[in-house]
Amino acid sequence: MTETPDQAGPLPRHIAIIMDGNGRWAKQHGRIRVKGHEAGADTVDLVVRSCAEIGIEVLTLYAFSSENWLRPAFEVSALMRLLHSYLKRETGRLVEQGIRLRAIGRLERLDSAVRRELEKACEVTAPGRTMTLNLAISYGGRDEICDAATALAREVAAGNLEPGAITPERFAEKLNTAGLPDPDIMIRTGGEYRISNFLLWQLAYTELYFSNTLWPDFSRDELLGIIHDFQHRERRFGRVLEGGEGTSHDLEIKG
Ligand code: FPP
Repeated sequence: MTETPDQAGPLPRHIAIIMDGNGRWAKQHGRIRVKGHEAGADTVDLVVRSCAEIGIEVLTLYAFSSENWLRPAFEVSALMRLLHSYLKRETGRLVEQGIRLRAIGRLERLDSAVRRELEKACEVTAPGRTMTLNLAISYGGRDEICDAATALAREVAAGNLEPGAITPERFAEKLNTAGLPDPDIMIRTGGEYRISNFLLWQLAYTELYFSNTLWPDFSRDELLGIIHDFQHRERRFGRVLEGGEGTSHDLEIKG
């Protein structure tokens, strides 16, 4: 049965996904790992379209981690080629759908052709207001936190900031995700129960979903099922709800 978002429940504003299982999917199908990544790129299309249709504001996809640079050179270049061809192929469609592209991570490590294509795609999709597609590329949560700390330390050293004035809000302004809401839902496919250096700061109060489905097999129905489940979870953000038990529908605050 297809689950649908509950009209009465709150829609997640931001969904973040660790797209794991491409390599195992390829193995199951007797193919090389790169074929799994290619199949995974088709699932990216499907999930981007679905989230935009449902009314999700931000979708963050972990496309390439800072640790993925350590994979065999052949696989790294295949992933870069795939990213390049995705951007070339999809930018027009993102514009049509009103989807704004943004990228987080140490983008300076990308080769110049991929970086150029990415910059171009971010620029031409910038007016999009339907959804923000946020690609984490060459991204590591610890790097991001160190970079934010460095930026604040520089302001302190220059005499422009009191150490005591550093608050979580001020810190978040220095992260790559500045201006975006924290994820409401984080999904990891592929059956592993780890965060793998993804959005370490931003996931503080995120609802976590771990799926055994390999990313190329992830479907719109499974996504809708997760959103439906989220709509019935109680989010307390460390507080006790007034009036006892309550449901997510009673919450006034959202983080
Ligand atoms: C993890 O699967 C997946 C990746 C490291 C890359 C994710 C890339 C894509 C889904 C395709 C390209 C992305 C875009 C945005 C076009 P894995 O290789 O670790 O799988 P395994 O755990 O089964 O080996």
